[in-house]
Amino acid sequence: MKHVVAIYPGSFDPPTKGHLDLVARGSRLFHELIVAILRNPDKDPLFSLEERRRMLERLTRRFSNVRVDTFDGLLVDYARQLGAHVLLRGIRAISDYEFELQMALMNRKLEPMLETVFLTAAEDYSYISSRIVKDIARLGGEVHEMVPPLVEERLQFKLNGHKPSQLASKPRAKAKLQRT
Ligand code: PNS
Repeated sequence: MKHVVAIYPGSFDPPTKGHLDLVARGSRLFHELIVAILRNPDKDPLFSLEERRRMLERLTRRFSNVRVDTFDGLLVDYARQLGAHVLLRGIRAISDYEFELQMALMNRKLEPMLETVFLTAAEDYSYISSRIVKDIARLGGEVHEMVPPLVEERLQFKLNGHKPSQLASKPRAKAKLQRT
């Protein structure tokens, strides 16, 4: 079997547990997996490109065949530059399907040698999206089931000004009662 290089493209603003599940499963399917963050000047992301890159690098460093990169322009051009064979995308619900199908068909039209491979989201993560995570965090809700601790920490810092160390520190042990 040839050395299969796959690209997992997205905005990742921020990365969620759903994204990481896809990275883990993609890393088992392909020889190389490149998590590619879109550099999109039209969008106004919560996290800068560098912040997203750094988070994803830390979150994926346990996978030896995964690396993080950024791209702009057409995805198919980026894939050609890398010599990639596969685009990896996740599908959560039927509502994702229409857009994903359109994108896959368009990408195939532009580059017939590039295959889009869809993985269905794990049940536990099928309701998660970066947009919903941001909304919930903005309104003070709990997001720890949806994003890794590192992202939760960064979200709190960005949205509510809680210093990362405050969240990362273990709960302080209760002071012992002094016997009198
Ligand atoms: O995480 P997202 O925002 O759903 O990812 C969308 C992404 C980055 C995969 C898509 O917008 C994309 O591929 N953009 C690059 C420009 C491009 O090639 N457009 C044509 C695809 S039909």
